[in-house]
Amino acid sequence: MSTFTECQPILPVSAGLKNGKLQIAGFDLETLALKYDTPLYLYDGATLRHQVESIRSLFGCYPGEWEITYAGKAYFSLGFARKIAELGLGVDVASLRELMMAKRAGFDPERVHLHGNNKSPEALELALEWGIHSIVVDSLDEIDFLTEIASRLGKVARIWLRITPGMEIDNVHPYMQTGSSSSKFGLSVIDGTASKGIQRAKANRWLDLSGLHIHLGSQIYFGDPYANALRMLIELAEREGLVPREISPGGGWGQPYVPEQLKAARPVSDWISAVCAAVNSEYSKRNWPLPKIVIEPGRYLAARAGVALYRVGTTKFTADGTYFIAVDGGLADNPRPALYGAQYAAIMVNNPEAEGRFSSHIVGKFCESGDELIKGIMMPMVQRSDLMVTPVAGAYQLSMSSNYNMATRPCVLWLEEGQEEILQKRERPELEGWWVSADEA
Ligand code: LLP
Repeated sequence: MSTFTECQPILPVSAGLKNGKLQIAGFDLETLALKYDTPLYLYDGATLRHQVESIRSLFGCYPGEWEITYAGKAYFSLGFARKIAELGLGVDVASLRELMMAKRAGFDPERVHLHGNNKSPEALELALEWGIHSIVVDSLDEIDFLTEIASRLGKVARIWLRITPGMEIDNVHPYMQTGSSSSKFGLSVIDGTASKGIQRAKANRWLDLSGLHIHLGSQIYFGDPYANALRMLIELAEREGLVPREISPGGGWGQPYVPEQLKAARPVSDWISAVCAAVNSEYSKRNWPLPKIVIEPGRYLAARAGVALYRVGTTKFTADGTYFIAVDGGLADNPRPALYGAQYAAIMVNNPEAEGRFSSHIVGKFCESGDELIKGIMMPMVQRSDLMVTPVAGAYQLSMSSNYNMATRPCVLWLEEGQEEILQKRERPELEGWWVSADEA
């Protein structure tokens, strides 16, 4: 069951009640829904800044350099990328298009990092031409592939190596684990590939190996795995005669999605202090100059800033008494429940404190039984055209959205108190060409 009061810690910080209705950044949500149609995604500027500041204020504990780099895969659009750049954050991009978007949004190339287990030659070329901070090399194969490109272009590539420490994190969904030795990502410590990679990169005149990187996975709430992985990384570097100038523990800090998860959620200070303490003590022990720490949060920065606004359509009670509430979005704009069994809360905009009375399934409108946004939530009686908000919609929803059943991707707004801005227009297939066959184009 979700009411405004229960959900306040997972709603945008500017969410409030006015005349008994849910509002965000002072906006009446019915007015926005009428103007922009639903499903509608809203990003709250105050929440994004709040999340950024909550991390920045913690780095005071680290005497060396540090940087916050947003993982663009969580949600990226030109408008949003500009907001991230204006906040002085770096960006981690994972494809040619994300890289192009970062360039267009005005990021300083010194703050851009390119990731991916199979980067395209075009992405690598652009990264070299634009002179980004680091290409995060993912395999021995990629060391050789990048060398070919760098030597052809006559440009030395500044790289990090992505190291796979061989760790699985408790209570993390298998699809969100990336640190195990069987992962498709990175150079494994356990089978010796990581050592080979470091030696190969060090001996290569077209590569400047400036840092080492790990990313353990997502929805992690404990600092210990980060500290342990960093220790392992630094020991590896020492064995291989490398003093990394930069160290990245990746991203992955957890974000509660429903009030029931709040108890288990840990403050972000657990993450930052574990990372800073591990790096500081391991480097100091060796009398090495402190490295720059680069963290890559995606979800922690973007998830809570975003909400999805849907309109209720059909409702029904089944023979066993289950209440089905169908909304006008679902699987196409949010595949996370179907992919990971992700849980969500729901708040009725005009009745945000209503007590739940019926055991309900909130489903989408798509032709797929797995299109269930929320299973088994207690809901009040609702009616066609009521507006519903699902909080924590800002990460990995739109960036993983699809056109299933020819759905069009929703409009996305950026909200500041009294000011709205379109980050992304609703998709218009008739304008964007995907209703036109090749012979008509
Ligand atoms: N750095 C690297 C190298 C990554 O691969 C990722 C996420 C991040 C940072 C940011 O992780 P975050 O802080 O956002 O957890 N689709 C899944 C999440 C996949 C994350 C992929 N990599 C989901 O919907 O939960």
